Amino acid sequence: MTITPGNSSGEIDVSDFDLMDLPADYVPNAHSYFAALRQASPIHRNRDGSYILTRYDDLVTAYRDPRVWSSDKKAAFGPKFGTSPLFEHHTTSLVFVDPPDHTRIRKLFQSAFTRKSLAALEPRIHALVDGYLDELADGGEMEFVSGFSFRLPVEIVCDMLGVPTSDRLLIREWALSILGALEPVMTDQQFQDGCAAVDNFKAYLRDRVKERKANPDGGRDGEILTALIEAEEEGEKLTEIELLHQCIFLLNAGHETSTNMISHGAHEMLRHPGEIEKLRADATLIDSMVEEVLRFQAPIQINNRRALHDTKLSGTAIPAGSVVHLMIGAANLDPAQFPDPECFDITRRPNRHLSFGLGIHICAGNALARMEAKIAFAKLFQRFPNLRLVAPAALSDRIRFREVTELKVAI
Ligand code: HEM
Repeated sequence: MTITPGNSSGEIDVSDFDLMDLPADYVPNAHSYFAALRQASPIHRNRDGSYILTRYDDLVTAYRDPRVWSSDKKAAFGPKFGTSPLFEHHTTSLVFVDPPDHTRIRKLFQSAFTRKSLAALEPRIHALVDGYLDELADGGEMEFVSGFSFRLPVEIVCDMLGVPTSDRLLIREWALSILGALEPVMTDQQFQDGCAAVDNFKAYLRDRVKERKANPDGGRDGEILTALIEAEEEGEKLTEIELLHQCIFLLNAGHETSTNMISHGAHEMLRHPGEIEKLRADATLIDSMVEEVLRFQAPIQINNRRALHDTKLSGTAIPAGSVVHLMIGAANLDPAQFPDPECFDITRRPNRHLSFGLGIHICAGNALARMEAKIAFAKLFQRFPNLRLVAPAALSDRIRFREVTELKVAI
């Protein structure tokens, strides 16, 4: 199903609101639902006993204290995934584990995300974007997601893992199936597809690891696969299963989100031509533009935590074991943090959005995602001053990821 975005006006009654049983118009009107929840029920209880948090300060509290707010998903995913491959994956990847395992695995990732490794990727990002834009220059109408936004992130993350880009469509299909199973309500089909995708992905990566071990010097500079294999070979730092699941997680985390950031960015700019003019008049606005795109349309809309102890949030008692849904999209529009939050303003500063999370799990790839966005948007609007929207973006009905499925533009 695809839905065309837009905001409804008027009062919304959220007394019966339930994340597991959403109103049909939720996705296109998410901003209105967020505003209503923030005002009327900022710590809102779902029928299954979990809580929806929509205020900026409450999200910050949960992100900042992992001793109270756990990311470990074994308790939540046991009933949902049983002992399936999906359970193994989503309870092994670093985003869903707590210290000390998280600290150990996160350290291994640092080598791939140093300034030096990112600087090494920069010329490749420029070259790739130039190449895509050359192809678009033929003009006419085009579908922007497949023609542009999808291409760069998957290419870069495949490079980081030593995966041939000829396999990128396969990777994308698996990634979408694995992430699709994280939706608050999962269908049988999503479960089957997700399990098959984890199995296929593992078999595929085992072959890549074998190849790299046979040819250790064959990788590009800064290839994270090599760093992870070395950690696995040292035995105590990473097991083989951990190695495979971190690779799967990186391939998933590193492209779906960035693709949506690029699609939303193009869409919002084209919906607000005055902002394109501002960028054209002052190219240094590219940094704050990227932050505003991330704030306004957070590619990941929901993170989760589980209370390890009885605790309180803004005076509300939360019992131990409760799951909280951190609504990033809502916090990013909280007027207590962002003046005039519904206004898309590329000069906005400060802009401390939560689109990359916060605290120990803050997105390890945030600098890479920002670099991709800056290069892609700067070149896109410079090269095609007459780019225009043919139709509003179509969004999928997924709610954890704010996903653009189709964006028709004309050059
Ligand atoms: C616009 C693009 C992106 C967005 C919006 C995004 C968002 C996020 C968020 C919100 C988290 C925190 C999850 C939590 O606290 O539960 C996260 C974690 C993570 N992201 Fe990203 N991400 C993006 C791009 C990337 C890229 C390009 C990579 C790598 C190639 C990446 C790798 C990671 C990793 C490894 C983690 C786990 C960190 C940890 O648990 O310590 N992300 N991301």
